[in-house]
Amino acid sequence: MSSQERHYESHWQEEEYYYQNPEFIGQANITDPGIFDRMSLDNFPECYKEFADLLDWDQYWHTTLDTSDAPCWKWFVGGRLNACYNCVDRHLDSYKNKTAIHFVPELEEEPVQNITYQELYRRVNETAIMLRDFCGLKAGDRVTLYLPMTPELPITMLACARLGIIHCQVFAGFSGKACGDRIWDSESEVLITMDAYYRSGKLLNHKANADEAVKAAEEQGQKVNKVLVWRRYPGTYSSSAPVVEGRDYFVDQLLEKYKRQEIAPASMPAEDILFLMYTSGSTGKPKGCQHSIGGYLSYVAWMSKYVQDIHPEDVYWCMADIGWITGHSFIVYGPLAVAASTVVYEGVPTYPDAGRCWRIAEELDVDIFHTSPTAIRALRKVGGDEPAKYNYSFKHMTTVGEPIEPEVWRWYYEVVGKGKAVIVDTWWQTETGGFLCSTLPGIQPMKPGSAGTGLPGIHPVILDDEGNEIQPGEGKAGNLCIKNPWPGAFQTIWKNKERYIDSYYGKYCRDKNSTDWRDWPYMAGDAAVMSADGYVRILGRIDDVINVSGHRLGTKEIESAALAAEEVAEAAVVAVTDEIKGAVPELYVSLKPDYDPSDDLAKKVSDAVADVLGKIAKPSNVYIVPDMPKTRSGKIMRRVLASISSNKDVGDVSTLANPQVVEEIRRQVQSG
Ligand code: WTA
Repeated sequence: MSSQERHYESHWQEEEYYYQNPEFIGQANITDPGIFDRMSLDNFPECYKEFADLLDWDQYWHTTLDTSDAPCWKWFVGGRLNACYNCVDRHLDSYKNKTAIHFVPELEEEPVQNITYQELYRRVNETAIMLRDFCGLKAGDRVTLYLPMTPELPITMLACARLGIIHCQVFAGFSGKACGDRIWDSESEVLITMDAYYRSGKLLNHKANADEAVKAAEEQGQKVNKVLVWRRYPGTYSSSAPVVEGRDYFVDQLLEKYKRQEIAPASMPAEDILFLMYTSGSTGKPKGCQHSIGGYLSYVAWMSKYVQDIHPEDVYWCMADIGWITGHSFIVYGPLAVAASTVVYEGVPTYPDAGRCWRIAEELDVDIFHTSPTAIRALRKVGGDEPAKYNYSFKHMTTVGEPIEPEVWRWYYEVVGKGKAVIVDTWWQTETGGFLCSTLPGIQPMKPGSAGTGLPGIHPVILDDEGNEIQPGEGKAGNLCIKNPWPGAFQTIWKNKERYIDSYYGKYCRDKNSTDWRDWPYMAGDAAVMSADGYVRILGRIDDVINVSGHRLGTKEIESAALAAEEVAEAAVVAVTDEIKGAVPELYVSLKPDYDPSDDLAKKVSDAVADVLGKIAKPSNVYIVPDMPKTRSGKIMRRVLASISSNKDVGDVSTLANPQVVEEIRRQVQSG
């Protein structure tokens, strides 16, 4: 367990329950606690029919769960459906003229675009035909999307889904090189991007990054034949990057040809792939989490309806980026599956000032709000009194992505929620598709700092290193696992089943040949404590992953990016607690012979990381040290560096190969 987790644990204290107001319960989509019994292990897996029944199927499945290729679970086998149909077409009868997407540009002087379900239907159809007829894409092909937070992103995703094309959206804040790695891994021949978008008042030249991405993919051997460029302002090219003849095309021009044309949604097997979402793990190589159509969509639809408590008349705003799993599941697929009006906001929450979020909420009548502890901490810091100045009214709020400190939770509840909105703290992962632990807002009370119990159908357990169950209320931390498969779970890591099995099942699988799901508990990679009432408190990652502002970064990825600077011999990253971002990476490097440390060099290394991975991965400090503390077998002792970074006792270092260097590093870091 890392020093950070021990730190959390020593501060562990039970919090009081908060009870939701009766008005919320009166309108909640679910108030019958019988759901937990219906979804008990005794009724597993057939109980998940209740989830699948939220969707329209072209053909019902014959097998709810097929375990024959354990642990690659197959859900709703034999069923056929289309994800785009379920998010768009089927709502036209009742909600044709209702807003599906409220697009809020970052510049306040630009008007909000309210895209109705009918308009969404039209734009998705035209885009889908373009993908088929102009790009030659068909079901099963992968296409990389590198799009910012504008409506063209969900429109392109849904257009892919309409034809069974697998979309791989890469967060626009990632560097071109990081995008190129993902193009290569997914073997995409088409890249869909945008010329520019606003961030903190600046129109960023995104097309330049897309060019980098194509170059990086081609250097690895993956040729990109077509780059489709949406224009932030149709008709005007807002980037200075060259337009490559025969490769780059403006989507607004291409679409002229497909105006008002329609294309039938493809009837897809439930088990086919909806999308890949790359995330970080313990090695330098990101993993492509492969999500299914039927299992995933039924799972996120249920979560949106019952955990987010979305009704079609609600205006729902999730402030995440669609480039992360939260945005896929809880801006696009879940909310649209239940006919919500979902808000897509282009920019940063505090632009141009600390009141922006609350003005958006007021203007659009947002009543369900969803964000991360990092954003909550930042909003509290820059404008703790702002929410009171605006006349919005939330009935429901979500927090996701990192542990939330109880005092920050209370600010969220009292000030943002004005003491009346119910809060759900949702614990889950890119891999899991949707929430695993939370509270059902109309049934269970809230507890600040805890992500609640397993949701209906999810049976969490805390295991020690030997695989023994730690009992609820024992007060001991262990590895959070889920006993059973569930439909939202990813199917495997794209092209890497071995890594999938090793990472998530390697430690606790009871028999690698077994096809009984009971032998395959899912290990999430988080340490957690479960209190007597079954509420889970997440302590943090147990692997080499740092959670910066709720974004997952692999320490190995940052380290290998640092090695891109030719002067660097060795690199080690540690996580340091940060008041706003939860954690930030600090980087230690040692130099090759013949190079001398300097501030310029430290900056160069830091820039190299931003260049390879994107700004979010930029280390908060770079320390050039004379040598890394190492074990006698040559392993870098990151634990020792982490203690130094956090001003903690380094413990006994006498067994290291070079104990004297520890004191040298400590003086260097703690004096600066
Ligand atoms: C962390 C984001 C505490 C956890 C949806 C997990 C959380 C990782 C919570 C997944 C929460 C997510 N409380 N920690 N409510 N939600 N985490 O894949 O460490 O980007 O393993 O998915 O975020 O991050 P990912």
